[in-house]
Amino acid sequence: MSTDELIIAINMIEVSNCPEAFERMRTAGPKMCNLTASYPGFLGYQAQIQSGALPLAGRYGGAALHMMQTLNPLPIWQYTVWENEDAHSDFHRSAFARAFEICAHCFPVLVEGPWEMTYRVVASNLPAIRSPAQIAAFPSETGVPMPYAPPQRSVAIAENLVKAGQEAAFERNVKALMAEIAKAPGFLGYMLMRYMDLNPWGSLMLDPISTLELGQTFGANPPFAPEPRFEPEQTRIGPAPYLLHTEWETPELAAAGLDRATLDRRARELLIQGLEHVMAGPYVKLFTPMMEQAGWRETLITDEQ
Ligand SMILES: [Fe+2]
Repeated sequence: MSTDELIIAINMIEVSNCPEAFERMRTAGPKMCNLTASYPGFLGYQAQIQSGALPLAGRYGGAALHMMQTLNPLPIWQYTVWENEDAHSDFHRSAFARAFEICAHCFPVLVEGPWEMTYRVVASNLPAIRSPAQIAAFPSETGVPMPYAPPQRSVAIAENLVKAGQEAAFERNVKALMAEIAKAPGFLGYMLMRYMDLNPWGSLMLDPISTLELGQTFGANPPFAPEPRFEPEQTRIGPAPYLLHTEWETPELAAAGLDRATLDRRARELLIQGLEHVMAGPYVKLFTPMMEQAGWRETLITDEQ
Protein backbone atom coordinates (compact mmCIF):
# COMPACT_ATOMS: atom_id res chain seq x y z
CA MET A 1 0.00 0.00 0.00
CA SER A 2 1.29 3.44 -0.89
CA THR A 3 1.51 5.85 2.00
CA ASP A 4 1.42 8.81 -0.45
CA GLU A 5 -2.37 8.66 -0.35
CA LEU A 6 -2.66 8.06 3.39
CA ILE A 7 -4.48 10.77 5.32
CA ILE A 8 -4.91 11.53 8.99
CA ALA A 9 -8.22 13.22 9.86
CA ILE A 10 -8.01 15.08 13.16
CA ASN A 11 -11.38 15.58 14.78
CA MET A 12 -11.11 18.37 17.37
CA ILE A 13 -13.70 19.05 20.05
CA GLU A 14 -13.71 20.89 23.36
CA VAL A 15 -15.87 19.47 26.14
CA SER A 16 -16.89 20.68 29.55
CA ASN A 17 -14.31 19.34 32.04
CA CYS A 18 -16.70 17.37 34.27
CA PRO A 19 -17.28 13.69 35.21
CA GLU A 20 -20.33 13.52 32.91
CA ALA A 21 -18.13 14.32 29.89
CA PHE A 22 -15.82 11.38 30.64
CA GLU A 23 -18.79 9.08 31.21
CA ARG A 24 -20.40 10.10 27.91
CA MET A 25 -17.10 9.68 26.00
CA ARG A 26 -16.59 6.26 27.59
CA THR A 27 -19.96 5.06 26.30
CA ALA A 28 -19.83 6.77 22.87
CA GLY A 29 -16.17 5.93 22.08
CA PRO A 30 -16.49 2.16 21.59
CA LYS A 31 -19.58 2.57 19.38
CA MET A 32 -17.83 5.10 17.15
CA CYS A 33 -14.77 2.82 16.95
CA ASN A 34 -16.94 -0.17 16.01
CA LEU A 35 -18.76 1.85 13.32
CA THR A 36 -15.57 3.32 11.85
CA ALA A 37 -13.73 -0.02 11.81
CA SER A 38 -16.50 -1.55 9.67
CA TYR A 39 -15.51 0.65 6.71
CA PRO A 40 -12.80 -0.32 4.18
CA GLY A 41 -9.75 1.87 4.09
CA PHE A 42 -9.75 2.52 7.85
CA LEU A 43 -6.23 1.93 9.22
CA GLY A 44 -6.59 2.87 12.90
CA TYR A 45 -7.04 5.74 15.30
CA GLN A 46 -5.50 7.57 18.24
CA ALA A 47 -7.84 9.46 20.58
CA GLN A 48 -6.06 11.84 22.90
CA ILE A 49 -6.94 14.35 25.55
CA GLN A 50 -5.00 17.56 26.18
CA SER A 51 -3.03 17.18 29.41
CA GLY A 52 -1.04 20.41 29.35
CA ALA A 53 0.98 22.86 27.30
CA LEU A 54 4.63 23.89 27.16
CA PRO A 55 5.35 27.26 28.80
CA LEU A 56 8.18 27.76 26.25
CA ALA A 57 10.66 29.28 28.68
CA GLY A 58 7.97 31.29 30.44
CA ARG A 59 6.64 33.18 27.41
CA TYR A 60 3.37 31.36 28.09
CA GLY A 61 3.79 31.29 31.86
CA GLY A 62 0.20 30.23 32.46
CA ALA A 63 0.89 26.94 30.70
CA ALA A 64 1.94 23.86 32.68
CA LEU A 65 2.76 20.22 32.01
CA HIS A 66 -0.19 18.89 34.04
CA MET A 67 -3.44 20.81 33.39
CA MET A 68 -6.01 18.06 32.92
CA GLN A 69 -7.77 19.04 36.14
CA THR A 70 -7.84 22.75 35.37
CA LEU A 71 -8.27 23.10 31.58
CA ASN A 72 -11.91 23.93 30.94
CA PRO A 73 -13.13 23.38 28.31
CA LEU A 74 -10.94 20.37 27.71
CA PRO A 75 -9.67 19.74 24.14
CA ILE A 76 -9.92 16.22 22.66
CA TRP A 77 -8.10 15.51 19.40
CA GLN A 78 -8.99 12.24 17.71
CA TYR A 79 -6.88 11.02 14.80
CA THR A 80 -8.45 8.57 12.36
CA VAL A 81 -6.11 7.18 9.71
CA TRP A 82 -7.33 6.21 6.22
CA GLU A 83 -5.77 4.65 3.13
CA ASN A 84 -6.96 7.65 1.13
CA GLU A 85 -9.32 10.63 1.20
CA ASP A 86 -12.05 8.80 -0.77
CA ALA A 87 -12.31 6.07 1.89
CA HIS A 88 -12.70 8.74 4.56
CA SER A 89 -15.36 10.69 2.60
CA ASP A 90 -17.30 7.49 1.79
CA PHE A 91 -17.37 6.64 5.49
CA HIS A 92 -18.80 10.02 6.47
CA ARG A 93 -21.41 10.07 3.71
CA SER A 94 -22.74 6.55 4.17
CA ALA A 95 -22.38 6.26 7.97
CA PHE A 96 -23.81 9.72 8.65
CA ALA A 97 -27.04 8.73 10.45
CA ARG A 98 -25.30 6.35 12.88
CA ALA A 99 -22.31 8.62 13.41
CA PHE A 100 -24.65 11.56 14.12
CA GLU A 101 -26.54 9.60 16.78
CA ILE A 102 -23.26 8.67 18.51
CA CYS A 103 -21.93 12.25 18.21
CA ALA A 104 -25.14 13.69 19.65
CA HIS A 105 -24.64 11.57 22.78
CA CYS A 106 -21.86 14.05 23.70
CA PHE A 107 -23.75 17.24 22.68
CA PRO A 108 -24.77 17.90 26.32
CA VAL A 109 -21.09 18.35 27.29
CA LEU A 110 -19.83 19.88 24.02
CA VAL A 111 -18.49 23.43 24.17
CA GLU A 112 -16.85 23.75 20.72
CA GLY A 113 -16.48 21.64 17.60
CA PRO A 114 -16.38 19.25 16.01
CA TRP A 115 -13.79 20.63 13.64
CA GLU A 116 -12.10 18.09 11.40
CA MET A 117 -9.05 18.87 9.32
CA THR A 118 -7.22 16.28 7.23
CA TYR A 119 -3.45 16.06 6.95
CA ARG A 120 -0.82 14.30 4.88
CA VAL A 121 2.17 12.76 6.67
CA VAL A 122 5.25 14.35 5.06
CA ALA A 123 7.89 12.82 7.36
CA SER A 124 7.70 10.17 10.06
CA ASN A 125 9.64 7.90 12.31
CA LEU A 126 7.05 6.50 14.72
CA PRO A 127 7.74 3.17 16.44
CA ALA A 128 5.11 0.48 16.96
CA ILE A 129 3.28 0.39 20.30
CA ARG A 130 4.25 -2.34 22.79
CA SER A 131 3.66 -2.70 26.50
CA PRO A 132 6.66 -2.11 28.79
CA ALA A 133 6.93 -5.88 29.46
CA GLN A 134 6.98 -6.64 25.72
CA ILE A 135 9.57 -3.93 25.13
CA ALA A 136 11.77 -5.41 27.87
CA ALA A 137 11.41 -8.94 26.46
CA PHE A 138 11.89 -8.16 22.80
CA PRO A 139 15.71 -7.88 22.49
CA SER A 140 16.24 -11.30 24.08
CA GLU A 141 13.90 -12.92 21.54
CA THR A 142 15.55 -11.51 18.45
CA GLY A 143 18.91 -10.26 19.56
CA VAL A 144 18.20 -6.99 17.75
CA PRO A 145 16.91 -4.07 19.80
CA MET A 146 13.96 -2.38 18.14
CA PRO A 147 12.45 0.99 19.01
CA TYR A 148 8.98 0.73 20.54
CA ALA A 149 6.66 3.12 22.32
CA PRO A 150 4.48 2.26 25.34
CA PRO A 151 0.71 2.91 25.36
CA GLN A 152 1.11 5.36 28.25
CA ARG A 153 3.19 8.18 26.85
CA SER A 154 3.03 11.90 26.22
CA VAL A 155 2.31 13.36 22.79
CA ALA A 156 3.59 16.89 22.16
CA ILE A 157 2.01 18.60 19.15
CA ALA A 158 3.59 21.79 17.82
CA GLU A 159 1.46 23.98 15.57
CA ASN A 160 3.24 25.96 12.86
CA LEU A 161 1.91 28.16 10.05
CA VAL A 162 4.48 28.18 7.25
CA LYS A 163 5.07 30.97 4.71
CA ALA A 164 3.73 30.19 1.22
CA GLY A 165 6.48 28.82 -1.03
CA GLN A 166 8.75 27.84 1.88
CA GLU A 167 7.12 24.50 2.67
CA ALA A 168 9.92 22.31 1.27
CA ALA A 169 12.62 24.26 3.13
CA PHE A 170 10.58 24.04 6.34
CA GLU A 171 10.17 20.27 5.96
CA ARG A 172 13.92 19.79 5.40
CA ASN A 173 14.65 21.90 8.45
CA VAL A 174 12.24 19.92 10.66
CA LYS A 175 13.86 16.61 9.63
CA ALA A 176 17.31 17.95 10.51
CA LEU A 177 16.06 19.41 13.80
CA MET A 178 14.33 16.15 14.75
CA ALA A 179 17.60 14.27 14.21
CA GLU A 180 19.04 16.43 17.02
CA ILE A 181 15.96 16.31 19.26
CA ALA A 182 15.88 12.50 18.90
CA LYS A 183 19.08 12.33 20.97
CA ALA A 184 17.17 13.54 24.06
CA PRO A 185 16.24 11.06 26.82
CA GLY A 186 12.65 9.88 26.57
CA PHE A 187 12.21 10.61 22.84
CA LEU A 188 10.07 7.91 21.19
CA GLY A 189 9.38 9.16 17.66
CA TYR A 190 7.76 11.83 15.51
CA MET A 191 5.76 12.64 12.43
CA LEU A 192 5.25 15.89 10.54
CA MET A 193 1.77 16.48 9.13
CA ARG A 194 0.82 19.05 6.51
CA TYR A 195 -2.76 20.36 6.32
CA MET A 196 -4.68 19.18 3.28
CA ASP A 197 -8.29 20.27 3.74
CA LEU A 198 -11.27 20.66 6.02
CA ASN A 199 -13.90 17.93 6.03
CA PRO A 200 -17.50 19.25 6.14
CA TRP A 201 -19.02 15.97 7.43
CA GLY A 202 -16.50 15.48 10.22
CA SER A 203 -16.95 19.16 11.15
CA LEU A 204 -20.78 18.78 11.08
CA MET A 205 -20.91 21.69 8.64
CA LEU A 206 -24.04 20.84 6.68
CA ASP A 207 -26.25 22.78 4.30
CA PRO A 208 -28.10 25.63 6.05
CA ILE A 209 -31.45 23.83 6.54
CA SER A 210 -29.74 20.68 7.88
CA THR A 211 -27.60 22.83 10.19
CA LEU A 212 -30.76 24.16 11.86
CA GLU A 213 -32.17 20.62 12.05
CA LEU A 214 -29.09 19.49 14.04
CA GLY A 215 -30.57 21.22 17.08
CA GLN A 216 -34.04 19.65 16.80
CA THR A 217 -33.16 16.19 18.10
CA PHE A 218 -31.29 14.37 20.87
CA GLY A 219 -29.58 12.29 18.19
CA ALA A 220 -32.07 9.58 17.23
CA ASN A 221 -33.19 11.60 14.20
CA PRO A 222 -30.50 12.99 11.91
CA PRO A 223 -31.28 15.89 9.52
CA PHE A 224 -33.69 14.82 6.75
CA ALA A 225 -31.43 15.31 3.72
CA PRO A 226 -27.96 16.43 4.82
CA GLU A 227 -25.56 17.79 2.24
CA PRO A 228 -22.07 19.12 2.97
CA ARG A 229 -21.93 22.92 3.17
CA PHE A 230 -18.73 23.02 1.11
CA GLU A 231 -16.35 20.76 -0.75
CA PRO A 232 -12.97 19.95 0.84
CA GLU A 233 -11.26 21.32 -2.30
CA GLN A 234 -12.65 24.78 -1.41
CA THR A 235 -10.64 24.76 1.83
CA ARG A 236 -7.16 24.11 0.38
CA ILE A 237 -5.69 27.43 1.36
CA GLY A 238 -2.18 28.80 1.78
CA PRO A 239 -0.11 29.47 3.86
CA ALA A 240 0.28 25.91 5.05
CA PRO A 241 -0.55 24.83 8.60
CA TYR A 242 1.67 22.00 9.87
CA LEU A 243 1.52 19.85 13.00
CA LEU A 244 4.75 18.40 14.38
CA HIS A 245 3.73 15.38 16.47
CA THR A 246 6.42 14.04 18.83
CA GLU A 247 6.10 11.28 21.42
CA TRP A 248 7.86 11.04 24.78
CA GLU A 249 7.99 8.77 27.80
CA THR A 250 6.62 11.50 30.10
CA PRO A 251 5.53 15.17 29.87
CA GLU A 252 8.66 16.16 31.85
CA LEU A 253 10.93 14.42 29.33
CA ALA A 254 8.96 16.06 26.48
CA ALA A 255 9.62 19.49 27.99
CA ALA A 256 13.31 18.78 28.60
CA GLY A 257 13.77 17.17 25.18
CA LEU A 258 12.06 19.93 23.22
CA ASP A 259 14.10 22.48 25.19
CA ARG A 260 17.16 21.12 23.37
CA ALA A 261 15.96 23.15 20.38
CA THR A 262 16.86 26.31 22.30
CA LEU A 263 19.70 25.04 24.50
CA ASP A 264 21.80 22.69 22.33
CA ARG A 265 24.18 24.59 20.03
CA ARG A 266 23.50 22.61 16.83
CA ALA A 267 19.74 22.32 17.45
CA ARG A 268 19.51 26.04 18.21
CA GLU A 269 21.10 26.92 14.86
CA LEU A 270 18.53 24.73 13.10
CA LEU A 271 15.66 26.25 15.10
CA ILE A 272 16.74 29.77 14.13
CA GLN A 273 16.87 28.76 10.45
CA GLY A 274 13.51 26.99 10.72
CA LEU A 275 11.68 29.88 12.36
CA GLU A 276 12.53 32.01 9.30
CA HIS A 277 9.94 29.88 7.45
CA VAL A 278 7.26 30.06 10.14
CA MET A 279 4.62 32.81 10.36
CA ALA A 280 2.90 31.53 13.50
CA GLY A 281 4.30 29.10 16.02
CA PRO A 282 5.63 27.15 17.64
CA TYR A 283 2.86 26.53 20.13
CA VAL A 284 3.14 23.14 21.81
CA LYS A 285 0.21 21.25 23.34
CA LEU A 286 0.71 18.08 25.36
CA PHE A 287 -1.73 15.18 25.01
CA THR A 288 -2.32 11.84 26.71
CA PRO A 289 -3.60 8.99 24.50
CA MET A 290 -6.92 7.63 25.84
CA MET A 291 -7.77 4.92 23.31
CA GLU A 292 -6.02 3.77 20.14
CA GLN A 293 -5.66 1.08 17.51
CA ALA A 294 -2.09 1.62 16.44
CA GLY A 295 -1.73 -0.63 13.36
CA TRP A 296 -1.47 2.45 11.11
CA ARG A 297 1.95 3.22 12.58
CA GLU A 298 3.40 0.04 11.11
CA THR A 299 2.13 1.12 7.68
CA LEU A 300 4.17 4.31 8.09
CA ILE A 301 7.22 2.41 9.32
CA THR A 302 7.16 0.08 6.28
CA ASP A 303 7.54 3.02 3.94
CA GLU A 304 9.96 4.94 6.14
CA GLN A 305 11.58 7.67 4.06
FE1 LIG B 1 -13.63 11.99 9.72
